[in-house]
Amino acid sequence: MKERWISSWQSPSNIALVKYWGKKDGQLPANPSVSMTLSRARTITTVEAGWQEQGGILSVNGLPDHPFIPKLTRVWQRLSEERPATGKLSCRVVTENTFPHSAGIASSASGISAFTLCLAEIICTIEGRPAGDDLFFREASGYARTGSGSASRSLFGGFVLWGKQGMVADSSDEYSVSVNHLVHPALVHLGDAIIVVTGSPKEIPSSAGHLLMNKHPWAPCRILQAERNCLDILDALKQGDFIKLSAIAENEALSLHALLMSSEGGPVLFSPETLQVIGKVRKAAGEGLNLFFTLDAGPNIHLVYPMDEAGRVKDFITREILPEIEVEEVIYDSTGSGPSRTGEIASNITNE
Ligand code: PMV
Repeated sequence: MKERWISSWQSPSNIALVKYWGKKDGQLPANPSVSMTLSRARTITTVEAGWQEQGGILSVNGLPDHPFIPKLTRVWQRLSEERPATGKLSCRVVTENTFPHSAGIASSASGISAFTLCLAEIICTIEGRPAGDDLFFREASGYARTGSGSASRSLFGGFVLWGKQGMVADSSDEYSVSVNHLVHPALVHLGDAIIVVTGSPKEIPSSAGHLLMNKHPWAPCRILQAERNCLDILDALKQGDFIKLSAIAENEALSLHALLMSSEGGPVLFSPETLQVIGKVRKAAGEGLNLFFTLDAGPNIHLVYPMDEAGRVKDFITREILPEIEVEEVIYDSTGSGPSRTGEIASNITNE
């Protein structure tokens, strides 16, 4: 007779407005970052865990060698160090995304945060501790960080800061914190139209990307730039200043790609369509449309806008972008409220 636990959570992806790029030992960020949590782009995960002499991740979607397992194992190991009960838990993971793989949406952020919530909830249940309070999410953010830095930000809705930053008292390199309390009402809910450009996705694994910063001659300046941009973007969010927010977010997106292109090996992750879309966005913004672009480490473009511009932005995409630029699809998303349970935690005794 063996005891088993089942926990299910869904967790969103996020898009960084100030980018985390480069890390220090212990999966700590070289610089603070600020992100917006998405609403529709989510991962839904169920973890079934039971006691075994040797714990670990047994399978993901039935596959013992699923490519996601190394990242989940890092989270499992971190939990085992801090919460010894984890060390004898073996997990079967079932997970699915609500968005296509090629969309350039950070599936590691949503997938790792969803898995972390499930495992942390199981551990809390075993230890008889509450799961779902503020401390639970803060701890989960720290655990998720070890699988993927950006995942630590997906534990919270709205706008999120990861990394020590003087303006936010409880900020830390170890975990992310919500900064919603300081966001002006005009900016609490923004649209994000993700323009997925045609062609094979150009990407480098983010772990390899972060490593490039260790030898980058601009690294010290980059850290200063990101710290300044964090301070300024928090101020823009506070003042409700969309123009300032736009300028910083675009500067960050282009800086990320400039850092990539000037790294060893010079990865170029733009595609011609990326630059075409950027040109159109800049022209439309110059003519009075409230929107800005941002990019992850890939060719797809996020167009961010206040929700009261949603109609005009959709019109702009339909009339200016789709007829002229090769686009695979457009995913309309917006600021989201963070993770939630998709089922109550269950525990049962089996004969296995
Ligand atoms: O969380 P990681 O290790 O996948 O790195 C994320 C890096 C960027 O997506 C490029 C920027 C960010 O802050 O999300």
